[in-house]
Amino acid sequence: MTRRQMLRLGIGGCIGASVLPLGKFGYHKYQVHQLGSQSRNFQVTGDRALVERAAVKGVIYGAATQQQFLAADPAFAKNFLKECRMIVTENDLQWNQVHPTPEQFDFAAADALLNFAKTNGLLFRGHNLVWHHSLPRWYREKVNAQNAEEYLIKHIQTLVRRYAGQVHSWDVVNEAINPKSGRSDQLRQTPWLEFLGPSYIETAFILAAEADPQALLVYNDFEMDYDRPEDEAKRTAVLGLLERLKSRDVPVHALGLQAHLWGAETRFNAKILSNFLRSVADLGLKILVTELDVTDKVLPADQALRDRIIASAYEDYLNVVLDEPAVIAVLTWGLSDKYTWLSEFSPRSDKLPVRPLPLDTSFKRKLTWNAIARAFDNAPIRSNSHLR
Ligand code: G3I
Repeated sequence: MTRRQMLRLGIGGCIGASVLPLGKFGYHKYQVHQLGSQSRNFQVTGDRALVERAAVKGVIYGAATQQQFLAADPAFAKNFLKECRMIVTENDLQWNQVHPTPEQFDFAAADALLNFAKTNGLLFRGHNLVWHHSLPRWYREKVNAQNAEEYLIKHIQTLVRRYAGQVHSWDVVNEAINPKSGRSDQLRQTPWLEFLGPSYIETAFILAAEADPQALLVYNDFEMDYDRPEDEAKRTAVLGLLERLKSRDVPVHALGLQAHLWGAETRFNAKILSNFLRSVADLGLKILVTELDVTDKVLPADQALRDRIIASAYEDYLNVVLDEPAVIAVLTWGLSDKYTWLSEFSPRSDKLPVRPLPLDTSFKRKLTWNAIARAFDNAPIRSNSHLR
């Protein structure tokens, strides 16, 4: 039985070939030390970049970054161009960065990122138009139920019209689902919901579609990856939202799986994830992995072991995801450990530098790079109609 066949059956979804499956669709819960078993060699043929390995299978590979990093670090910019087909605005289009006062917008950083993309033939992806985080201070002071829609319309039309025809896709609404919200529709209690009710979601998509009919419009969310009750609840609730939006002909075109994974998490079931992706695709939606990284926060200090565990998590996840033809892009949330949000937001207690991404802080390819490369090399070919 090939590894891919094992994965399809949900056997050995998380660890190497040494898995002793509990049953047809299960596996042993492993101690972390076994996650780094030597059974996987991470060998890669040749040194073609990730962009090429993905493109020959009709998949876009790219990464999120910030203008300040590209501008200040030519070596980083050079490696970004070597490995990536797409650039994602990590923060430069967040509300608190691009809409600093009620009446003003600051596009300097985002324009520079777009210019970098156009100059170098990269695809450009906008993140995000509507979220409950990263709202500027003035939002709390000025926005209310009476004027919220006016601010929402102005924000979305200003951003999307400015970049119309130049954006591959937008994360239109980010993280709107919270199964623990106590609501029957399981929408997250956010200022947008408080001021505008559930219709803010379709309003956002309709506005974005009107402002840029060419852009792929994405609903983006996290915690849909594992065989855990929280993830299952999120998957079910997100699917319900997508079904409701599609039933009302709302112009949502794709689901964004953020895929912020954990190296120590062993509750990964290939069959469960694969079935969820198929259910999303059956709605006629494309799927993008939008913020992929794997935190090593609680893994052992040993760097070689940590790198093996992280790389295993990447490869196991991507082997399942890339088996789904509706998946058109894999985007890591950063390219190098030198620039990862996890350094600030999820540091290790032993203060060792975190190592969640394909390139190390000197832009050297790591086992994680090999894991991603192998996943692309092993992926089935899909049409590349979206690789414009
Ligand atoms: O730019 C200012 C700087 O001028 C100031 O001195 C500094 C003071 O702390 O803050 C800087 O802004 C920070 C910004 O990142 C740019 O580095 C914000 O404080 C910080 O909150 C912001 O964090 C970002 C976070 O979203 C919140 O917006 C992370 O970099 C970014 O990786 C993270 O990304 C999110 C996605 O948007 C949605 N999915 C989850 C993902 C991880 O949380």
